[in-house]
Amino acid sequence: MQTDNASKAPVPKHLAIVMDGNGRWARSRHLPRTEGHRRGVNSARAVIEACAQRGVEVLTLFAFSSENWRRPESEVSALMELFITALRREIGTLAAKGIRMRFIGAREAFTVRLQAAMTEAEVRTRDNHVMTLVVAVNYGGRWDITQAAEHMKLEEVAQESHETALASGLATAGLPDPDLFIRTGGERRLSNFLLWQLAYTELYFTDVLWPDFDVAELDQAFVDYGRRQRRFGRTGEQVESRV
Ligand code: FPP
Repeated sequence: MQTDNASKAPVPKHLAIVMDGNGRWARSRHLPRTEGHRRGVNSARAVIEACAQRGVEVLTLFAFSSENWRRPESEVSALMELFITALRREIGTLAAKGIRMRFIGAREAFTVRLQAAMTEAEVRTRDNHVMTLVVAVNYGGRWDITQAAEHMKLEEVAQESHETALASGLATAGLPDPDLFIRTGGERRLSNFLLWQLAYTELYFTDVLWPDFDVAELDQAFVDYGRRQRRFGRTGEQVESRV
């Protein structure tokens, strides 16, 4: 339930989330890890809906990292199956809610079937404007920067515009950088997520495991975000005198 404080909290324009703790959630209940991921989809659904309702413009979810291939093969294939089933099941609702979908990451590593489902979801929702849902799959921040640098080399960019040119080659080109980063599951690290884009992002870590992360937890993160003073290198006094 949304609290009074939460309804007054400013929402981030772009929220990025590392959904961690599915495996531990399942293990603590003597369930297979894949059950944790299945429950994680429920949390993702609730968070996507709440973000759209609260006016978040871009929500980026880290669903599968470049390093997640190192997991046992059975878990990787269960995750792939889950992605495709969830996508097929949810796409109608997401489209009806005005959500635009975008996938970032080296998607050519996935099966043709999964790649086709991702492209289909992007095409079907491309004219939607309520919120952009970015799902990072086989994504790594270093991969992103490296491929942007390769792109820049090919373009032979003028010296003074290197920073802009690099940003325009990133997988998130055209989207604002995240204002708020949330990581559930107790770890306090970025794990190779959006390394360039998180330069000035407010970081929020919670011990809550992703399957237990509900709308009340999301609102709590927004309240905490609302208390932060974003200075972008300026002094606190300079920021206060601008409001
Ligand atoms: C991290 O928990 C979670 C993942 C690697 C998978 C994330 C996927 C989902 C939540 C489901 C799909 C979501 C979408 C948007 C389709 P972990 O396994 O690392 O947990 P642990 O640290 O407790 O082992």
